[in-house]
Amino acid sequence: PVSPVNVTVTGAAGQIGYALLFRIASGQLLGADVPVRLRLLEITPALKAAEGTAMELDDCAFPLLQGIDITDDANVAFDGTNVGLLVGARPRTKGMERGDLLEANGGIFKPQGKAINDHAADDVKVLVVGNPANTNALIAQAAAPDVPAERFTAMTRLDHNRALTQLAKKTGSTVADIKKLTIWGNHSATQYPDIFHAEISGKNAAQVVNDEKWLADEFIPTVAKRGAAIIDARGASSAASAANAAIDHVHTWVNGTAEGDWASMGIPSDGSYGVPEGIISSFPVTTKDGAYEIVQGLEINEFSRTRIDASVKELSDERDAVRGLGLI
Ligand code: NAI
Repeated sequence: PVSPVNVTVTGAAGQIGYALLFRIASGQLLGADVPVRLRLLEITPALKAAEGTAMELDDCAFPLLQGIDITDDANVAFDGTNVGLLVGARPRTKGMERGDLLEANGGIFKPQGKAINDHAADDVKVLVVGNPANTNALIAQAAAPDVPAERFTAMTRLDHNRALTQLAKKTGSTVADIKKLTIWGNHSATQYPDIFHAEISGKNAAQVVNDEKWLADEFIPTVAKRGAAIIDARGASSAASAANAAIDHVHTWVNGTAEGDWASMGIPSDGSYGVPEGIISSFPVTTKDGAYEIVQGLEINEFSRTRIDASVKELSDERDAVRGLGLI
């Protein structure tokens, strides 16, 4: 029998956890022939709720699900982990300054990074979903010096997927017609969804759209502010679509991008495209055999350069702030 892949989910009793766990257990994360063992990490008061979710997972009788462990100890949760989905985070509450937010999340992601460093499997891959995702990923990565830095990634796939649909609607195409779209920068309001290299049924997307005003005044803000629009409409934050994007991110990383296409991932910069080395910023990437590479050689026009620089500046400021707090 094939030994199961250990998948650890933090914040397992939360909204995204509830939308995510069933899809992992059904085989959508890694493949329909890959058995999984789930490790759920929660804070102590939420353990009971996590147990409730585990009861429902049992009741699905997923053939691929080989076991569920529930714990409030990161050292246990990450023991032998092959895939870590870091979803639980400290949300920004009213009146909270950025420094307080980063410090509170440092208290979560630094020990989790250390637990991954000390206990995870050699091939561990980490996706940080909990916000501020890019900087939380940086904190965890810095706390795991024995793990190759490139294994720590942050989620911008939801932004990527949101941009695909907005572009499809604008151009009367379908998402399946669109390739090579890119999210650059931070998973925040400064992110830059770039269609200048995207293709719609083989034609350049920016030329098909041919409307820079729509790009600047509608497309970019709609994608960047979609999270707030969902909260406004649903009365709760986007959980199912976030879980879906987490599935897409890991599935792409493990199973590869399609020929002639790429995906967006928040990854440690190697200095490409003028993004300072080390910060975790979103790039266009191709993936193969469980590894990713930044797509090189794209021409960045003035419109894109300004926006990429602004988002990267925000990430550099966040890095300086967590450095100042001694979190990295
Ligand atoms: P939620 O509040 O429903 O769930 C979060 C869970 O994390 C709670 O059950 C909480 O007990 C748990 N938690 C808190 N601290 C923990 C710790 N130290 N260890 C383990 N678990 C811990 O929130 P939801 O809706 O599930 O969202 C989770 C995060 O994902 C938020 O930070 C949210 O901003 C972020 N998010 C990121 C997106 C992205 O595109 N990168 C998209 C949507 C949400």
